[in-house]
Amino acid sequence: MRVAVLGAGVMGAGMVRSLRRAGHDVAVWNRTPAKAADLASVGAVPAPDVTAAVTGADAVISMLFDAEATLAVKADLTAALADGAVWIQSATVGVAGIGAVAEGVPAIVDAPVLGTRKPADDGTLVVLASGDPALLERCRPVFDAIGSRTVVAGDTVGPASALKLACNSWVALAMAGIGQSVQLARALGVDPRLFLSAIDGGPTGMPYAQVKGQAVLAGDYATSFAVDGVVKDVGLMVDAAAQVGFPTGLLDALRALYAEASAAGHGDADMAAVAESFRR
Ligand SMILES: NC(=O)c1ccc[n+]([C@@H]2O[C@H](COP(=O)([O-])OP(=O)(O)OC[C@H]3O[C@@H](n4cnc5c(N)ncnc54)[C@H](OP(=O)(O)O)[C@@H]3O)[C@@H](O)[C@H]2O)c1
Repeated sequence: MRVAVLGAGVMGAGMVRSLRRAGHDVAVWNRTPAKAADLASVGAVPAPDVTAAVTGADAVISMLFDAEATLAVKADLTAALADGAVWIQSATVGVAGIGAVAEGVPAIVDAPVLGTRKPADDGTLVVLASGDPALLERCRPVFDAIGSRTVVAGDTVGPASALKLACNSWVALAMAGIGQSVQLARALGVDPRLFLSAIDGGPTGMPYAQVKGQAVLAGDYATSFAVDGVVKDVGLMVDAAAQVGFPTGLLDALRALYAEASAAGHGDADMAAVAESFRR
């Protein structure tokens, strides 16, 4: 297929590499052109603007930071989208966000993803997809290239973005919990490595705790998913929860912790830097 990717950040760049490995023709546009130009090394064609990227594409993936950035490209994208082509919206934009993005666009599917830098590079993301089944079917080759699995959340636009919020609330909570336990052990005068060793292999242990716990211990916050992205996502969760009268106490606490890490200068660092919010 001919695929256009809008956004060559951590996730968009990984998707481009996976699409190229699977043999698709890829055009890539990024606001900062150098990031798109770098992807020429894997055979992607950097495009000077959204119109040039989208023209002639069978499928267009948008993987920008948020709904605002996605709405900013909507007019150019839809004007250049060919008859029969599909817009695959994969950024995390929340429930209200996907509503605004999809409004008036017949050929769009809601397809946020689970997984971070490495799964994006490896083509092993989990695609959460919802929308017209016929459109989803057309997207299969793209989903298979960027992901190892596709979870279909419904036959309208919206449920996939809702599921993404539920999934990310778990990830944000897990990471904050890992940071809290490592720092609590430290504060109480216990070697924090013993926390990771105690849960390892047991019912409350998980590979994520070992990977992120080691990162916290090493103070290695090389970015897979940035703190500011989590702040954005937890804000979307709070907004969506408020719409349905769902209690936001835990989400509010999480938002405050990640916002504190951002305010302390870790906004671009990996979400593991939330551990710094527990450092006295
Ligand atoms: N990283 C993860 O683990 C992960 C996992 C799943 C989903 N996501 C979601 O995927 C999306 C992208 O995440 P990422 O980690 O790839 O982020 P990122 O590395 O920060 O990249 C963000 C992208 O958005 C572009 N952008 C930001 N504001 C823009 C604007 N106003 N107009 C046009 N382009 C704009 C950036 O362009 P510049 O290069 O010019 O700044 C860049 O291409 C987000 O919605 C995120 O929540 C991330």
